[in-house]
Amino acid sequence: MKKVILITGSTDGIGKLAALKLAREGHTMYLHGRNADKLERVIEELKSDTNNQNINGFVADFSDLHAVRKMSEEIKMELSSIDVLVNNAGIFKVNNNITDDGLDVRMAVNYLAPYILTNALLPLLRQSDNPRIINLSSAAQSSVSTEFLKGNKQLPDQAAYAQSKLAILMWSFHLAEQEPDITAIPLNPGSLLNTNMVREAYGKFWSSADKGADIIVDLSISQQHDNMSGKYFDNDKGGYGKTHPDAYDKGIISGLIEVTEDMVGSNK
Ligand SMILES: NC(=O)c1ccc[n+]([C@@H]2O[C@H](COP(=O)([O-])OP(=O)(O)OC[C@H]3O[C@@H](n4cnc5c(N)ncnc54)[C@H](OP(=O)(O)O)[C@@H]3O)[C@@H](O)[C@H]2O)c1
Repeated sequence: MKKVILITGSTDGIGKLAALKLAREGHTMYLHGRNADKLERVIEELKSDTNNQNINGFVADFSDLHAVRKMSEEIKMELSSIDVLVNNAGIFKVNNNITDDGLDVRMAVNYLAPYILTNALLPLLRQSDNPRIINLSSAAQSSVSTEFLKGNKQLPDQAAYAQSKLAILMWSFHLAEQEPDITAIPLNPGSLLNTNMVREAYGKFWSSADKGADIIVDLSISQQHDNMSGKYFDNDKGGYGKTHPDAYDKGIISGLIEVTEDMVGSNK
């Protein structure tokens, strides 16, 4: 069955490659990028590569959470339902690591932006017969410091990234419980895949970007994941598996959600 699929951060890397593969299969694709010209170029490229004309896009810089809210409203004006939301946009290294709102860019882009976007789009996902949310985490995970999340302290790139990636993972487990009719799966797409992020951060890679794109495609559409909501897919191991102990601690998760709601909840 053809689906309506929105992938954030689909102007490059594994998000773009997954969008290409899904467009080839005839799904209706919505891309997202932070740069309007690059987004337009990628949409045209995918249309001509796949002969699928049902490809559109939305623009927002996820380091600006007001822009994320604005984009969410635009999506709600344009679409009546979404089958699959892939929260893929992510950042590791930046020149300026503090946003205009005083938050760490990794926390804003990798965790708070998808949190805001997803909560805004839940009514559209609930319209689908078989809704899914795939959240891009990572093998890099470390305990989330509330002070760091709130922007009250700074950390080196690796620690900032790893905290943002455990935050999105813990929230995914929470989301799976909060929305029993939506399949929510956090994903490590594989480590050191050949993308801009990895080349800029490490100057080397271990695996092709296809490895990450293929698992995004599979988790988005394959029926075998129907009953896997709230489970962590670790593509370094090629299957579902255990993750960081904090993600199984209900107290730590509710603490994270409480602070997050306080920062960016729907009444903010
Ligand atoms: N590659 C890996 O080995 C690996 C491993 C574990 C997890 N992941 C996760 O997989 C996801 C995709 O990563 P990738 O390796 O494909 O990276 P990438 O090639 O750098 O692509 C990242 C995507 O996110 C977009 N993006 C970055 N900052 C943004 C911002 N401020 N606002 C909106 N969009 C923004 C980028 O836009 P531009 O096109 O404008 O740059 C691009 O479309 C990330 O969440 C990453 O953490 C990757």
